[in-house]
Amino acid sequence: MGGGTGQLTDSFGRVARKLRISVTDRCNFRCFFCMPVDPSWLPRDKMLTYEEIARLVRIFASLGISKVRLTGGEPLVRREIETLVAMIRQVPGIETINLTTNGFYLAEKAASLRASGLQGVTVSLHSLRPDRFHDMVRASGVFERVLTGIDCARREGLHVKINCVVIRGCNEDELLDFARLAYEGNVTVRFIEYMPFDGEQSWDMRKVVSGEEIIERISAVYRLIECPREAGSTAQLYRFQEGSDGEIGLITSMTKPFCGDCDRVRLKVNGAIVPCMFSPAEYSIMPLLRGGASDEDLRSFISSVFSKKAPGVQALLQHANLGSHVRPMYTIGG
Ligand code: 5AD
Ligand code: SF4
Repeated sequence: MGGGTGQLTDSFGRVARKLRISVTDRCNFRCFFCMPVDPSWLPRDKMLTYEEIARLVRIFASLGISKVRLTGGEPLVRREIETLVAMIRQVPGIETINLTTNGFYLAEKAASLRASGLQGVTVSLHSLRPDRFHDMVRASGVFERVLTGIDCARREGLHVKINCVVIRGCNEDELLDFARLAYEGNVTVRFIEYMPFDGEQSWDMRKVVSGEEIIERISAVYRLIECPREAGSTAQLYRFQEGSDGEIGLITSMTKPFCGDCDRVRLKVNGAIVPCMFSPAEYSIMPLLRGGASDEDLRSFISSVFSKKAPGVQALLQHANLGSHVRPMYTIGG
């Protein structure tokens, strides 16, 4: 391939280091904050193949990407996802590969994922109460299996983090239960502010519980120490003053977005490159990819669309048309 040493840089001087790949839009859950009840899936022939994804990852790596995260939909519903993990693992320049999952298939897949070279999983767990969990994900009888999945992943040596989307009037009364899970389970629990990416247009700014409020409520019970934020990190982390290796994280996408040093770029399974999750702008690489373009052509396309990356959440908030919901989460995977 064209061995240039270019970097992906946007007009604000931000440089991409991390690539998030949505490997499928399909999911066995129907979280109301992510999907409509009856989603229409992308036809299979419009989905990137593993060979195509691996080729694009090689190109992204030549442009300075060193970290890959697989998302969905639910990445573990795509057939033999371990094969893709192993293919990406072999790409020179890719240092880490992680995956965001709903945890349902982890019990059966943790070992093979570990063997294929995956480093860690972030498991979405929005309630510790089975009934509420089932209401939120609109699936039944899955809660225990997700918990088992988390245990299996830890036992196999995968690094495990928990993601919890906090929604006012829904699960905000469980903040301390989650903090206890972090404390007693020595695990990182990251609270995510509810974003306008739901499937049902039910998002409303009043349903957002701010990171500030979350940390205030937890600090009333646990003594926390703020950690220095890593550049480009989406989460502000806190550790417990004593007694635990667990951490609390805040992903304050709505009230205090970290767009200024964003180092991410996204690839959807339909071949669209999404420079900023909070902007509707996306650019399909499919016509080039399936039209015989050279690696060099693909490189220039990626560089050129990334240079147009939007400034981030702030610009969107100013438009006050947030209700128009940029795109549902299941098509991009966070
Ligand atoms: N707002 C915030 N987070 C969301 N997620 C899905 N939909 C939303 C939303 N509307 C979560 C997923 C996953 C992470 C990538 O984003 O549950 O944990
Ligand atoms: Fe599936 Fe995750 Fe979306 Fe829930 S949030 S429907 S688990 S992709």
